Amino acid sequence: MVRRVPIFACLCGALALVMAVVLPLAAQADAKRFSLAVPASLVESGLLDYLLPRFSLKTGVRIEVVPGKAAAEAELGTQEGRAVFTGSGETWRLRIRDDHPGAVRFVDWLTSEIGRRTVTSYEVAGTAPFTPPEADAMEGEAPSFDGDAALGRRVAQAKCGRCHVVDPNRRGGIGSTPSFPVLRTLSDWDARFQTFYALNPHPAFTQVPGVTEGFAKHLPPAIVPVEVSLGEIEAILAYVAGIAPADLGAPIQFQ
Ligand code: HEC
Repeated sequence: MVRRVPIFACLCGALALVMAVVLPLAAQADAKRFSLAVPASLVESGLLDYLLPRFSLKTGVRIEVVPGKAAAEAELGTQEGRAVFTGSGETWRLRIRDDHPGAVRFVDWLTSEIGRRTVTSYEVAGTAPFTPPEADAMEGEAPSFDGDAALGRRVAQAKCGRCHVVDPNRRGGIGSTPSFPVLRTLSDWDARFQTFYALNPHPAFTQVPGVTEGFAKHLPPAIVPVEVSLGEIEAILAYVAGIAPADLGAPIQFQ
């Protein structure tokens, strides 16, 4: 009897060790696969058989296609989400639930130069049935701010919260820096957030990969630089769209 105790303790220890190793792996594996609901008509087009292996090869993220009405981490449809391609008379949109990181990568890839080229390079009998979304389909979605607001909140808090009060219920920030709820009162708040990286003081410390040029060698940022992707900016826009504008009583004067 007495001898069993150490064995039991040892087993427990081993189990804990196994859990410690396996659990993070499981979480990681999760980010590397997601389910995508696709209407039958689009499945039949063959486009996804062409796109998905190329995406998976590039990113290691696997996509399981499920029928259009099934519960899934992301869905392709014609009503909601970010416009990703046009074909068979529709603009197809991708909607992501709970900002699944694999699905976010898929949208980023589809809307990137390489993704767009991959869409157009899919041919059936010498013609390309799908093309990147028309400009007006993409413009049309700007005011709907269909970025991921939950992601936007986290990104804003982590990257903008150093200076700005981001959350209407929190204090902090730097006194002279307008809070996000105050900025939200401006009629052109969205244009300002879309281009904030070009508006002072941000260019001195902000990098948007693929958009901004690197900091000039003789002008290294004086503070820890901020790096945000276009996807994150879109997410921030979605978040800011949803926050209540500060109640200022009177219109404010700002720049
Ligand atoms: C190091 C401090 C700092 C950080 C970090 C910072 N900002 Fe700012 N931001 C400022 C200051 C200061 C102003 C006010 C500029 C002025 O009044 O001219 C400002 C103004 C703005 C404005 C209004 C710009 C205008 O001219 O209309 C927007 C929009 C904005 N910030 C967005 C962001 C976002 C989004 C982030 C995070 C990704 C961010 N900022 C990170 C300091 C910062």
